[in-house]
Amino acid sequence: MPIIAHISDLHFGSVNAPIAEALGAELRDVAPDLLVVSGDLTQRGRRRQYAAAADYLAGLPRPQIVVPGNHDVPLFDVVRRFYFPLDRYRRHITADLSPFYRDDAIAVLGINTARSWMWSWKGFWRDGRISAEQLLEVERCFSGIPAGVFKIVVTHHPFIPPPRRRVHGIVGGAPAALDVLRRCGVDMLLAGHLHTSYSGDVRPHYETINCSILSVQAGSTISTRLRREPNAYNVIAINGGDVTVTARSWAANRFVETSVTRYQKVGDIWQTPAPKPRVCSVPSPGG
Ligand SMILES: [Fe+2]
Ligand SMILES: [Fe+2]
Repeated sequence: MPIIAHISDLHFGSVNAPIAEALGAELRDVAPDLLVVSGDLTQRGRRRQYAAAADYLAGLPRPQIVVPGNHDVPLFDVVRRFYFPLDRYRRHITADLSPFYRDDAIAVLGINTARSWMWSWKGFWRDGRISAEQLLEVERCFSGIPAGVFKIVVTHHPFIPPPRRRVHGIVGGAPAALDVLRRCGVDMLLAGHLHTSYSGDVRPHYETINCSILSVQAGSTISTRLRREPNAYNVIAINGGDVTVTARSWAANRFVETSVTRYQKVGDIWQTPAPKPRVCSVPSPGG
């Protein structure tokens, strides 16, 4: 049963050092089959921040699938932002912007959704995107991989919003991408960006696309940049069509288990099995 550790939004330059140290020790104990890092390795894409992120990743378990986030594109260095946006990422982290991992049980592809510029009617930089060329790469990578191999795509920007929160930060081109991912038999999406832990099926969010794909979000794992919840990461256990997502959050001085969500694929649809009824022991009469 493959175990994936999923961390995100490290934001070197705004890192909580004791939490980073504790996470490193914990991940070395967990010894996952794969470590996924879903973007925002740095706070501002500066050389020193990249060097610190690279040092840190070098001390974590391998193999690793790493993708960049919007914070990994320099913000204030305009020349670098527009002409060499991920130059430092390629130099310090990995030159591969479509990393791919495959073993007997899982196939995992990383997609770069960070862009140099995105403009909204509100007038600020926002969100990311998946391009048509990247979707061709998805098809190429997953073609010929048997149905029994669990297929995963990693992005920085999410496909679904957190429960009961406003919709923002969703990756551009999501409907077209999901149509391709469905055809490729992708089972699960891993992302970050919103600094919030949650998971669910994409199906209720894209009613016109008839697909059921699990979407799992990691929180802000070691950064001081938090949004109404503590630092967190996920441990994901995959057993064919049975997936357990365990969120581990920082509490005072260590990571503790804060939620366990189990998903089962019934037919083509991911479902959360109903909790088993508790069996109460009834004292026998006169006993
Ligand atoms: Fe972030
Ligand atoms: Fe981000």
